[in-house]
Amino acid sequence: MSTPRARNPSTEALLAIAVDAARQAGEILEKCAYAGFRVKHKNVINLVTDADYRAEQRIVDVIQKAFPSHRILAEERGLIHRSPSTYQWVIDPLDGTTNFAHGFPAFCVSIGVQHDGHGLIGVVFDPTRNELFTARRHKGAFLNDTPISVSPVDNLDHALLVTGFAYDIRETQNNNLDHFVRFALKAQGLRRTGTAALDLCYVASGRFDGFWEVTLNPWDMAAGIVILEEAGGRVTNFKGETHSIYGRELVASNGRIHQAMLKVLQQDRPLT
Ligand code: IPD
Ligand code: CA
Ligand code: CA
Repeated sequence: MSTPRARNPSTEALLAIAVDAARQAGEILEKCAYAGFRVKHKNVINLVTDADYRAEQRIVDVIQKAFPSHRILAEERGLIHRSPSTYQWVIDPLDGTTNFAHGFPAFCVSIGVQHDGHGLIGVVFDPTRNELFTARRHKGAFLNDTPISVSPVDNLDHALLVTGFAYDIRETQNNNLDHFVRFALKAQGLRRTGTAALDLCYVASGRFDGFWEVTLNPWDMAAGIVILEEAGGRVTNFKGETHSIYGRELVASNGRIHQAMLKVLQQDRPLT
């Protein structure tokens, strides 16, 4: 006799667990920020703190209790899978570690769920502002239960853009400084917040109009991409092709300025 196949969980159930895990992790981050934490160096400028590990452990515990068979890709632990599953959770327990370590209040917890390789659920929680960004595929995006959508800005002169720099900035020429200079001269304003998951949510909610980075990891993007797309935004690689969370480079926008952003990113003339 064949074993019965487990029913797929509802997206409501997945979202509820993701929100619960994100809020619990956020509480850990807040407590650590208040009580103090140890800092280790992954390399000279790449830090990790006790708070990263403790928040990640709590998220993994919450997920495994609810969905023991699901795969989990977590920044600090790597891939955890007990059995083959079509569901994969992608976790950044603390996006914005450098900010957190300096007491700069811009960081978040990011939890995405993928099904058959496609983004299904996105949850990003900013404990400092008590802002919870959520989305389920085809069900819209929300900030604290209020629907959000991208901005109507349709040209770079009126656009507030955001970017970030990877930890290998000193080791590679593909370090984003060329794009940064070009956009600084094209956009109304340019920011670097230090938390890619929140950057995506801020494009989703119209606070920013566009975001790009050259070297991101799946856990930086998995949740934010679902939130942005559900808010009406667009995400591609620098060629304008379909984006993959394993693809590193990312352009995310309100859709209206996407072509203009791609044009800037595709310039390869040396800076003058
Ligand atoms: C980093 C942040 C930052 C981005 C880096 C990421 P971490 O993640 O999202 O904004 O520019 O590329 O690595 O290390 O704070 O989780
Ligand atoms: Ca991150
Ligand atoms: Ca992190």
